Amino acid sequence: AGPCDIYSSGGTPCVAAHSTTRALYSAFSGSLYQVKRGSDNTTTNIAPLAAGGVANAAAQDTFCAGTTCLISIIYDQSGNNNHLTQAPPGGFAGPEPNGYDNLASATGAPVTLNGQKAYGVFISPGTGYRNNAASGTAVSDEAEGMYAVLDGTHYNGGCCFDYGNAEVSSKDTGNGHMEAIYFGDSTSWGYGSGSGPWLMADLENGLFSGVAVKENAGDPSISYRFLTAIVKGGPNQWALRGANAASGSLSTYYSGARPDASGYNPMSKEGAIILGIGGDNSISAQGTFYEGVMTTGYPSDATENSVQANIVAAKYVAASLTSGTALTVGSSISLRATTAGYTTRYLAHTDATVNTQVVSSSSTTALKQQASWTVRAGLGNSACVSFESVDTAGSYLRHYNFVLQVAADDGTKQMHEDATFCPQAGISGQGSSIRAWGYPTRYIRHFSDVGYAATNGGYQVFDAATSFNDDVSWVISTGFA
Ligand code: AHR
Ligand code: AHR
Repeated sequence: AGPCDIYSSGGTPCVAAHSTTRALYSAFSGSLYQVKRGSDNTTTNIAPLAAGGVANAAAQDTFCAGTTCLISIIYDQSGNNNHLTQAPPGGFAGPEPNGYDNLASATGAPVTLNGQKAYGVFISPGTGYRNNAASGTAVSDEAEGMYAVLDGTHYNGGCCFDYGNAEVSSKDTGNGHMEAIYFGDSTSWGYGSGSGPWLMADLENGLFSGVAVKENAGDPSISYRFLTAIVKGGPNQWALRGANAASGSLSTYYSGARPDASGYNPMSKEGAIILGIGGDNSISAQGTFYEGVMTTGYPSDATENSVQANIVAAKYVAASLTSGTALTVGSSISLRATTAGYTTRYLAHTDATVNTQVVSSSSTTALKQQASWTVRAGLGNSACVSFESVDTAGSYLRHYNFVLQVAADDGTKQMHEDATFCPQAGISGQGSSIRAWGYPTRYIRHFSDVGYAATNGGYQVFDAATSFNDDVSWVISTGFA
């Protein structure tokens, strides 16, 4: 059985079921998600390998070979057509044309399920999915349940990495107009014990960790690599439950009355579905989503316990974030441009500015050092790498507003994440391409001889699709210094 078969047996069937990794019904063999590739903007649908099975990641890899891919639709498996697509603007506008949010990279969150490769949905700030015309989801004070499998190590304090029920207008229409799973370490509203991150419920104008508006000590800090997150709510009753999605059973962090503030009892749910954003299209949050559902009716704890057992049996394991030329931590490397006409240029820096410069064995020592980088374990994720300047020890290659710069390590999580890059086999077929860990649609690129974290065919000048593949493919060799 799949999670939605279990919810059905419990009398609280799924009304929306989303996953890029697997079928959530044992009989489901339709499309799980759609990807769109950068080379020609065409799309293809990815289905499970077999009914009830894991996604056919190899089909995605074949379709996306030699280019970049985005997740353009996350299909609803429930039969209600509650598909998730690129979120439109609301109270806040997204970064894409006409205020739409970004789509997620199709390769930012690789995993295996029972040994079979699949990809999750890596949400960077600015990325979001939504359905403002969902059917069957809870409205007003109707009862519903939700679970999601998330990456408990990928989060931030921005508003709001959510999955669940939100406003049909994409605007903040008042307290109680949302009921969604939230994960992150925001302390702008509620919070739990420790320093986070926490599972909370986004009920609009408030992230709730229990009955109190601010702190509820019963809601623990949790950071399982794979996290099962549950929010359920009905008339004057709701609960928060969580677990390690890779082993063990659910704990109940809160179960009881609606929060101690006006507007949340009764609720005024509207029934739209969001992923990765706040109800008003707040786009500052990050997180990773693998699978999740919404039900009608208030699922029993026993039903959810069976769903947790099903998730554990799916055996989620993190897969490698890198490929191609392996980089040795501690070694000094150079990165040579491969675009025709630029092949004598290397990624370098002049003070804080990152550029490409013509470097050779007869260059000055100063230039050689400026074009050499010491490979370090990724400051923000040790599964990837950081590049320390040989010229300025203690300073690292990072992006800021998607422009590359060399900056001192100020010790912040933001700096560490912005300085973390994941090398993969070169997109052009030559050398290596180097993804920004926190923005996996973006790669280290030279454009007018300046360094950027660029996305293929994006909205900024340096994102231009022309010569993108060559501009992001670098030959990595031993450093000059
Ligand atoms: O409730 C927290 C956030 O507040 C909601 O997600 C958003 O709509 C509002 O800004
Ligand atoms: O470069 C993109 C973002 O810009 C970085 O993550 C952040 O530090 C800055 O706001």
